Amino acid sequence: MDAFVIEGGQRLDGTLRVHGSKNAALPQLAAALLTDQPLTLRDVPELADIQNMTKLLADLGCSAQRDGDAIRAQTQDQSQVHARYDVVRTMRAGICVLGPILARRGRARVSMPGGCAIGDRPIDIHLRGLEALGAAITLENGDIVAEVPGGRLRGATVFLGGPFGPTVLGTANVMSAATLARGTTIIESAACEPEIADLAKLLNAMGAKISGAGTPRVTIIGVDELGAADHRVIPDRIEAGTFLCAAAITNSDLRVTNCPVDALLAAIDRLERIGVHVEVENPSDPFRATCRVYAERSLRPVEISTQPHPGFPADLQAQFMALLTLADGNSVITERIFPERFLHVPELSRMGAKLMRQGATVVVTGVRELVGAPVMASDLRASAGLVLAALAARGTTIINRVYHLDRGYERLEERLRGVGAKIERIDTSAVSESAAPMITVRPIGEPAHA
Ligand code: EPU
Repeated sequence: MDAFVIEGGQRLDGTLRVHGSKNAALPQLAAALLTDQPLTLRDVPELADIQNMTKLLADLGCSAQRDGDAIRAQTQDQSQVHARYDVVRTMRAGICVLGPILARRGRARVSMPGGCAIGDRPIDIHLRGLEALGAAITLENGDIVAEVPGGRLRGATVFLGGPFGPTVLGTANVMSAATLARGTTIIESAACEPEIADLAKLLNAMGAKISGAGTPRVTIIGVDELGAADHRVIPDRIEAGTFLCAAAITNSDLRVTNCPVDALLAAIDRLERIGVHVEVENPSDPFRATCRVYAERSLRPVEISTQPHPGFPADLQAQFMALLTLADGNSVITERIFPERFLHVPELSRMGAKLMRQGATVVVTGVRELVGAPVMASDLRASAGLVLAALAARGTTIINRVYHLDRGYERLEERLRGVGAKIERIDTSAVSESAAPMITVRPIGEPAHA
């Protein structure tokens, strides 16, 4: 198991390039199951979740090979319809294969994704949407078993809103399935996330007829078949937001390229109020912009409520909490998408943050400084928040269990080191986690199990 050792207090200087979006690429890879023709996706980050998705595709008769930053996927065998627990449990996005298999093969058996560290994550709305398209769904031995009587889904009007707003992967699932349905589907209360608009762009390039993606009402006119496509995945807005916070929390002046500012307006609005300036240097391409980011001397407290897009993203809540621990006064953060997603709170407190949680709200009282400590990464974005806090803290922080972070940020330590951060990856497998501070730091570039 790897850990990060971070020596805080360094100013960062230079340029960070944002990689392609993990959350856009995952349902796009699943879309390869909708056709026998080849699909090429470009700027796909090299992450554990992406690898797991290619493993899942292989189990389902679709080979997916990496070539540099691209993945080429092609379905060869349609006989397999079972997405097994051992892969689906590793990543919730495994559920994205359900709609495509059902639409193309007429039946599917997909393991129920388990619970996860950020709270209860049901899939009832996915299933309701697919049932509205004509699927008969039952639960057997922890698997979702779905059949389409007659073999082909039929278009319908589907409402995908839930108690916490629309569902992102549910919209991806139903939209993908509806591309091959007989007739027209209207998704009402669809998720408006940029990852949904990008998925629709890919599906349309494959021959689908989707309009309105990126708005709450999406219309899909079903077609008989889909074909080949070559598509570049949008940049990762959450990685970009994390980099903007990295500049702000270390009081640095950084350049961030391939930055999807247009997808980050709520986060940039909060940054400006906090006293962090994001200057777009090439406004002609607001989805792949170059930004200069720098902060004022003292940071102002703000109120943040996470919301579905275009509101403030839940996936940046932990990173902004880390930033606000150093603001001048009291900030209030309310989590409206995943009310339990606060595992970073006790860890940040170990570093000297003053946080008071009540239900889905945390009051962050700014402190003068954070101090390094051994902490535990618990989920992907919580880990990113801890890295940010560690970059600003006085002294050394050890972040254990960074495999969570590796699910969503490619080689983060190398990239941060490239702009001046003092951060190393160490292998803690030989020693207990409590002993991690004692172990030797592996030289940069040496493989984990050398
Ligand atoms: N929900 C239901 N029923 C459903 C589906 C969702 O009640 O059938 C609830 C959820 O429990 C949650 C809310 O609706 O309270 C929104 O969940 P959503 O379905 O939109 O989440 P998701 O699609 O499973 C994606 C991202 C998450 C991101 C959320 C919200 C991927 C692979 N995952 O999850 O990303 O937090 O949307 O924006 O795209 C991450 O990258 O770290 C991550 C967790």
